[in-house]
Amino acid sequence: MKKGVFITLEGLDGAGKTTQINLLAAKAQALGIATVTTREPGGTALGDAIRKILLDPSYKEMLPLTEAFLYAASRAQHVAEVIRPALAAGKLVICDRFYDSSLAYQAFGGGLAFEFVRYINEEAVKDCKPDCTFILDLEPRVGQARKGQMKADRIEQKALAFHERVREGFLQLAQKQPERITVLDATESPEAIFNAIWAKVAPLLGLSR
Ligand code: TYD
Repeated sequence: MKKGVFITLEGLDGAGKTTQINLLAAKAQALGIATVTTREPGGTALGDAIRKILLDPSYKEMLPLTEAFLYAASRAQHVAEVIRPALAAGKLVICDRFYDSSLAYQAFGGGLAFEFVRYINEEAVKDCKPDCTFILDLEPRVGQARKGQMKADRIEQKALAFHERVREGFLQLAQKQPERITVLDATESPEAIFNAIWAKVAPLLGLSR
C-alpha cells in the first residue's frame, strides 16, 4: 500500500503552478528524495491522447458531461499507471492538477452536479488521494493576463465568468477540507510561495524545514 507522499497543485491557468512544481521537485531531488512530477490531463500515453481532445479549440461543442468523463478517464489511467505505483515504491509524487480541478471546473464552472463529479472521480482514484494540496489563488483576469502572450487552449477561451466560478469552487473546496488544502496568494513572490509550500511538505517527508 501507499508509502510515498502525494502532493497536488491546483489553481487557475497562469497561477504559477509549474514554477512551484519545478522548485519543489528540485529541492526534493537535491535532498536525495526519489520524486515523480506529472500532470493532468495526461501523464500516460492514453492520457496524453485524451488531453489533445480536451484542449483542442476546434471542439467547441464539447458538453460539460463529456469533459467530465474524459478528465476522469485520463485520471483513472494516471492513477493506475503512474501515481499508485510511484507511491507504493515510496516516492514523492507531485502532480499538476488532480481531482479538485474536476470539481472546480466541471462542477462549479461547468454546472454539473457536484456529487456526480465527485462520484466518477472517487471511482477513478479510489484510495489514491493527495496528502496535501496547494491552491494558488488569483483573480482570473490576472491569470489570463499572465498567459496572454500564449495561444489560448479550449478551456482558456471560456468566459471570465466561468473562471470566476472555478476560482470560487477551489476556495469552497479549501474551506471544506482545511486539513488537506492550503490556499496561497499567487500574486506573492515565487520565493514566498515556495517557502509556504515547503513548510507544509517538509514534515510530510520526515524532514525539519
Ligand atoms: P493545464 O495542463 O493546467 O493547462 P496548461 O498546460 O495550458 O497550463 O490544464 C488544462 C486545462 O484543463 C486547464 O484549463 C484546466 C482544465 N482541467 C479541467 O477542466 N478539469 C480537470 O479535471 C483538469 C485536470 C483540468
